[in-house]
Amino acid sequence: MTAPPRGELQILDTPQAVAAALADLVVAEARSATESRGSFFVALAGGKTPQAAYSLLSERRDPIDWEHVFVYFGDERCVPPESGESNYKMAFDSFLSMVPIPAQNVHRMHGEDEPARAARAYAQVLAKTMGELPRFDLMLLGMGDDGHTASLFPGTDPRAGEDQLVRAAFVEKYRVCRLTLTPLVINNSKRITIAVEGAAKASALHAVREGPYDPVTYPAQIVKPRNGELTWLVDKAAAGNLAG
Ligand code: 6PG
Repeated sequence: MTAPPRGELQILDTPQAVAAALADLVVAEARSATESRGSFFVALAGGKTPQAAYSLLSERRDPIDWEHVFVYFGDERCVPPESGESNYKMAFDSFLSMVPIPAQNVHRMHGEDEPARAARAYAQVLAKTMGELPRFDLMLLGMGDDGHTASLFPGTDPRAGEDQLVRAAFVEKYRVCRLTLTPLVINNSKRITIAVEGAAKASALHAVREGPYDPVTYPAQIVKPRNGELTWLVDKAAAGNLAG
């Protein structure tokens, strides 16, 4: 199967530069969407990479119409919101608790609930607040050193359950359960950004962007907006194995 286009690649000198570029992008997209359409729907990535960008967002003084910003999550660990493992807690502590966004505008995945039920419940929240096939203005993603993204991990075909909006997945590698948006939702976004940092991810980034199309082995390859833009924000260390 021919590989899909891999998206725009921005290589930045340092993780700090990636964080600044990601924060700038969120601010720009939020202002553009709220000014032109009256609302901004964003799905946040978890993990460590976006944390510095989220902290920068808490310090920005740009006039953002937070009343009309609606925050969701690309994935979540099966843990309660007060857990140090929670993607919601990371985002809340990094910036959501420090900006004037109405609490009801933030929709976390209920990692504390039975996973399949939590996935169904979140799919209902998405359908109720965004329609049957949600289309995010901005989808933030990261990538693991094994080529996973969101909680679409190697060994499971990310295209499985193509009709679902949200999936509960047991991740063999970590022997944990995760909740994740599916490619159906991810690839319906207007804009997708994947932020990748560190030499540990250089091999996976090369395989994902320049290797044969094999999304079961490298799930991040499944990210291809049907009608939108894909931008990779990577630092030089992560880009170390890229040819082009
Ligand atoms: C998560 C994320 C996950 C993350 C990658 C990269 O729940 O951890 O959604 O997909 O983006 O694992 O994580 P780091 O940024 O910590 O390297």
